[in-house]
Amino acid sequence: MAAEQGQWVLMATARSPTNIAVIKYWGKRDEALILPINESISITLDPEHLSATTTVAVSPSFDRDRMWLNGKEISLDGGRFQSCLREIRRRAEDVEDEKKGIHIRKEDWERLNVHIASYNNFPTAAGLASSAAGFACLAFSLAKLMNVKEDCGELSAIARRGSGSACRSLFGGFVKWTMGNAADGSDSIAVQLASETHWDDLVVIIAVVSSRQKETSSTSGMRESVETSSLLHYRAKEVVPSRILQMENAISCRDFATFAKLTCADSNQFHAVCLDTSPPIFYMNDTSHRIINLVEKWNQFEGAPQVAYTFDAGPNAVLIAKNRKTASLLLQRLLFYFPPPSGSELTSYLLGDKSILQESGVQSMKDVEALQPPLETKDKTMVQRYAGDVSYFICTKIGRGPTLLADEGQALLSSETGLPK
Ligand code: DP6
Repeated sequence: MAAEQGQWVLMATARSPTNIAVIKYWGKRDEALILPINESISITLDPEHLSATTTVAVSPSFDRDRMWLNGKEISLDGGRFQSCLREIRRRAEDVEDEKKGIHIRKEDWERLNVHIASYNNFPTAAGLASSAAGFACLAFSLAKLMNVKEDCGELSAIARRGSGSACRSLFGGFVKWTMGNAADGSDSIAVQLASETHWDDLVVIIAVVSSRQKETSSTSGMRESVETSSLLHYRAKEVVPSRILQMENAISCRDFATFAKLTCADSNQFHAVCLDTSPPIFYMNDTSHRIINLVEKWNQFEGAPQVAYTFDAGPNAVLIAKNRKTASLLLQRLLFYFPPPSGSELTSYLLGDKSILQESGVQSMKDVEALQPPLETKDKTMVQRYAGDVSYFICTKIGRGPTLLADEGQALLSSETGLPK
């Protein structure tokens, strides 16, 4: 470590997406290694709208490993952080930075401490899989810093040790988490089924549903399901394997009808498993159920699926529309039933790709008020609108996997002190 006595700081910054499962992971066969009881498939969401950015730094002047999340220092004591750090350090290689005069040898990494700063470009409290983006970004950025030669598949097994669903965020597009057979979990990795360009008609609208309730964490929820739900074991053994094959086929053929049917059915079965858990777990609320109804009624009226819905361990709806036209019709329906509370701005009620508003023909609060009940509404005199039940919507699409941000201006740590900027 030639420059050991100097005050150098070496850094890497990366950005990683979140993902939403269309065939759900729920239940572990090994708690410590985070190995699932069934395979799962997800779509990666556009990092432009939903992602974690992480800067990792190393310097001989750091006296311990430290981490800051959204500007606040957090503890790295947890087993999951420690597993990720240990697994990455084990694979670290020599690093040379001639310009800065830094020479780190493979064996030095065990003694060097790291600083980690991570930031989500969406509200963590919204319950939108922030840990998936975060752990994927941690594994990816540390791998870059430490010159780890492993590919994204192998890195996905490290991200998995942080949070199971994080392994799927190492790739863009459509991703499968293969269960694997190895006792050490080395083959329980993510693989890309198709890239983000394969099926780029799809539009994603997320309804961030207002909720005051503190939800059961995925980790403890799925543990309780494994211990008490017989439906969970039936699902893992008898249902998921064939759904995985059908879903892979639907994605490969861009067969929206099959994709949507499987996505909705699997979300509903996952929530049925939660109800089958003792004591039962309720992740969805009345607003979630109203959104399901809205989509189901519309799909039935059209005689073919226009939109798919899926819900994770919380009340937020992730809606996947067949194309931009259906997405704009969906938005009209959503804004009809769930208008922004009076006095608020439409532009702060729809985040992400706001151009969809124009395509929906809804550009002001006046337009929202003038919306009529959708065609499929049977009794138009009985309709109710639920202002305030959705906090906001995010319009996005399927996106790419992790990327390295070369511009030091985007780093979250100072290149001089290695502390948050
Ligand atoms: C409902 O990955 O958050 O989102 O592995 O314990 O960290 P841990 O759980 P986590 O569980 C995600 C569950 C889910 C479904 C999914 O993403 O497949």
